[in-house]
Amino acid sequence: MGIIMVDNNIERIGVLTAGGDCPGLNAVIRSVTKTAIVEHGWDVIGIEDGFLGLIEGRTRQLTYDTVSGILSIGGTILGTSNKADPFAFAVEKGGKLIKEDVSQVLIDTCRDLDIDAVITIGGDGTQSIAGRLAERGMNIIGIPKTIDNDLAGTDVTFGFDTAVGIITDALDRIHTTAMSHHRAMVVEVMGRNAGWLALHAGIAGGGDVLLIPEIPFDIEEVCRVVDHRSRHGKRFSIIVVSEGARPAGGTQVVKRIVKDSADPIRLGGIGKVVADGIQERTGIESRVTVLGHLQRGGPPSSRDRVLGTLFGRKAIDLVAQGKFGRLVAEKGGEITSSPLADTIGKQRLVPRDHYLLDTAISVGTSFGVKEL
Ligand code: F6P
Repeated sequence: MGIIMVDNNIERIGVLTAGGDCPGLNAVIRSVTKTAIVEHGWDVIGIEDGFLGLIEGRTRQLTYDTVSGILSIGGTILGTSNKADPFAFAVEKGGKLIKEDVSQVLIDTCRDLDIDAVITIGGDGTQSIAGRLAERGMNIIGIPKTIDNDLAGTDVTFGFDTAVGIITDALDRIHTTAMSHHRAMVVEVMGRNAGWLALHAGIAGGGDVLLIPEIPFDIEEVCRVVDHRSRHGKRFSIIVVSEGARPAGGTQVVKRIVKDSADPIRLGGIGKVVADGIQERTGIESRVTVLGHLQRGGPPSSRDRVLGTLFGRKAIDLVAQGKFGRLVAEKGGEITSSPLADTIGKQRLVPRDHYLLDTAISVGTSFGVKEL
């Protein structure tokens, strides 16, 4: 049953997934495609490997049948790339790798393929590019994706809930082995510069110490908590560390630089630093587990399937209404939208006054500092 009357003379739309993958991408592709076909009878063109597919002209038609049966499957049937920024695209010239603005190629491809609007499913890098393309006159709608939950303009991104579930499950498993061996178990989780994953999963999994990027920690305080627990009957501790966490006065640990990526820094390694620090200072045997890309794989949770379906449908409504240059969002429990321009260059971090910080402290959880 359609609720959107306006159709805005749209006949064909394109859809792409860009940046790191996450659970729920296929649920969104399915929702976008089915809504476009069922509600409006539009053609849907799937663009392969994010913006790269538009630059290289790699697309394929998506039908009701081709998106059937993909709701519960992880990854993206369209493929993705986080190395194809059309405003700084790496091309080889005279044996040298230089960055070129190829955004016009992408605009021309859409025109040649009669694509009236493009739906970009991605995180902040993708939506920043989408915002700049919208400024250049392209009809663009963004849908917010990332396990990190760090996108400005929305309260939540799809993929986050599934990742929190995966980390929580891992913490449950780490708990039993930590108890058996009386160890300090450090679990490093993703999230870039935002601590949402560590905070939510740390609370859900009963972490004793949560180290997040927004609160630089003091290793002496972490050790005091671990030592206190072991002297008072709890002979194990679980320390959940965001990959972006850093000691007060120190720096983040960079794992690698991906040169041709729009956001080249890949964080990782702080878990080992914390585990070594605990063992050296307390003598308590410590181990580190880095959950890595496990957090992005596999089937989406039911929450992410529903959110992905709602987001996909909302994107089509916005296209039909001609409301371009917008990011689909969930705000205060409502499915709505924000200007894409508001996402450019911004990250949604955990604020110091967030209710989950207070709540965690109320149940005895430490953030590795004496006081917040
Ligand atoms: O943004 C999602 C994310 O998984 C981050 O949490 C992590 O820092 C990064 O991507 C890892 O990127 P890559 O897949 O390139 O290693």
